[in-house]
Amino acid sequence: MSRPLPTLTDGHVLLRAAEPRDLPSIEIGIRDPDVLRWIGPQPASAEEVLAQNEQRWERGSPTLSICEPDGACVGKVWMNVPEGDRSTGFVGYWLLPAARGRGFATGAVRLLSAWALRELGITRVRLTTAPENARSQRVAERSGFQRIPPGERDAAEGAHRGDFVYELIDPPAMA
Ligand SMILES: CC(C)(COP(=O)(O)OP(=O)(O)OC[C@H]1O[C@@H](n2cnc3c(N)ncnc32)[C@H](O)[C@@H]1OP(=O)(O)O)[C@@H](O)C(=O)NCCC(=O)NCCS
Repeated sequence: MSRPLPTLTDGHVLLRAAEPRDLPSIEIGIRDPDVLRWIGPQPASAEEVLAQNEQRWERGSPTLSICEPDGACVGKVWMNVPEGDRSTGFVGYWLLPAARGRGFATGAVRLLSAWALRELGITRVRLTTAPENARSQRVAERSGFQRIPPGERDAAEGAHRGDFVYELIDPPAMA
């Protein structure tokens, strides 16, 4: 049995464990063309997403709902912590189209990264984007990540050739 997921907030965005009321937002998110383009094929239903998230947390990789301050779910943020090497977490995220342009993804990445560095025993967080995904690259930069020069990446990170790989080592000062 995993320990409970945290609730994290910076006063602007709220992260919390998924709740059944998130299902309609997740249904929209997993069918959004940008999510499919930049993250890849999604589970067939929102219920399946929640089941997979629970299984991933059993293995030590958390997923939280990104919410407005009133608790309405507008996206997802997660940290993959590979079981074979728990030193590095790989952060990912999506927002509903209506929630973009308000800093929610940046806040979510900062909050989850700081918590994971503190609580999960990881020593660094990586963030990988396609070279054409400029919005996601801006999230990385605003969240305090630095791009790793292509020649300095190690083989174990799982990025595709040409991807932009960013890294955060120190916790963001705000969290
Ligand atoms: C990637 C994605 C989450 C980025 O969303 P986003 O809205 O650009 O990112 P943020 O929520 O951090 O918002 C940043 C924007 O809000 C603005 N903003 C407003 N208030 C802000 C605040 N308090 N803090 C930071 N930014 C704020 C910023 O200026 C920025 O606007 P700009 O892009 O016009 O400069 C979104 O495009 C998405 O869901 N894409 C599909 C899935 C995806 O690509 N995931 C990542 C795969 S690597």
